Amino acid sequence: MVARVQPLPEVGFPNGEQRPALGLGTWRFGEAADRRAEELASLRQALEMGWRVIDTAEMYGDGGAETLTGQALADAQRAGVPRGEFFVVSKALPEHAGAHALQAACEASLRRLQLDSIDLYLLHWRGGVPLAETVRGFEQLQRRGLIRMWGVSNFDLDDMCELGAAPGGKACATNQVYYSLSQRGVEHDLLPWQRVQQMPLMAYSPFDQGELVDHPRLRPVAERHRATPAQVALAWLLRQRGVMAIPKAGNALHLRHNWAAQQVRLTAEDLAELDHHFAPPTERQPLAVR
Ligand SMILES: NC(=O)c1ccc[n+]([C@@H]2O[C@H](COP(=O)([O-])OP(=O)(O)OC[C@H]3O[C@@H](n4cnc5c(N)ncnc54)[C@H](OP(=O)(O)O)[C@@H]3O)[C@@H](O)[C@H]2O)c1
Repeated sequence: MVARVQPLPEVGFPNGEQRPALGLGTWRFGEAADRRAEELASLRQALEMGWRVIDTAEMYGDGGAETLTGQALADAQRAGVPRGEFFVVSKALPEHAGAHALQAACEASLRRLQLDSIDLYLLHWRGGVPLAETVRGFEQLQRRGLIRMWGVSNFDLDDMCELGAAPGGKACATNQVYYSLSQRGVEHDLLPWQRVQQMPLMAYSPFDQGELVDHPRLRPVAERHRATPAQVALAWLLRQRGVMAIPKAGNALHLRHNWAAQQVRLTAEDLAELDHHFAPPTERQPLAVR
């Protein structure tokens, strides 16, 4: 019998663009010279396997993760994958959030990424620069053709409302936050709010930085699906409308398992069991931050 292949989950952005709901994280890449070859190999394998969304940041390895990402993307394009298939997300540090500094930060990221434009450029966390000024910086980058969409990260609901009230702030395309089976606070208010705005939520640290990958509470569900606990944790996020998950993986086996998690369809029984062990929020919780 041939296993039925399910369509890969996608998320829709406010501009109507549909993109894969599974992306690759790169935090911790580019930090150590003796790991670079292995990390580059892993990024290349990911792109060969079909991963098309990559999440990086100027902060990761002080630009080292962007440099490795740029090398892997350049190789993939040389091998014939069109630039338009990739969806590259990067982030500016809050100290670069001013309208002028943001231009220079983005230009430096683009050089490291070997790209003409970033698909989605985020403010990594809020910091002290007035939001209206940062929005002006993003708009200027868009006018210059250096970024296509912009968004934020680690913004709680009150920050999002303040951003929405700033001139141009409603054009925000995403908010990237900590969201996993063991960190479900956003389900109370932020995620429903983002769904109303048709703004995808990018779920970072979907494995709780490794805590969930062999969690005993996930094993019975995993066994029912002949999957791993990590795949269950990922499938649980990927089944949700408007949620993109960006697990980091540093080897081919993890990349393959995470890719295959797109085919795991959790049942009502599985979801009830997961809710029992990882309870959804019953009241507002402050946004979790890594
Ligand atoms: N915006 C923000 O402030 C923010 C904050 C944190 C993270 N992020 C983004 O989100 C991405 C993901 O979050 P994260 O890196 O914190 O942690 P994560 O994705 O929750 O967990 C990564 C850990 O899980 C392991 N792993 C991955 N796939 C596995 C599998 N199939 N089986 C077993 N272990 C597996 C990895 O090991 P190996 O490396 O050995 O594969 C690594 O130790 C980051 O890389 C970054 O791009 C953003």
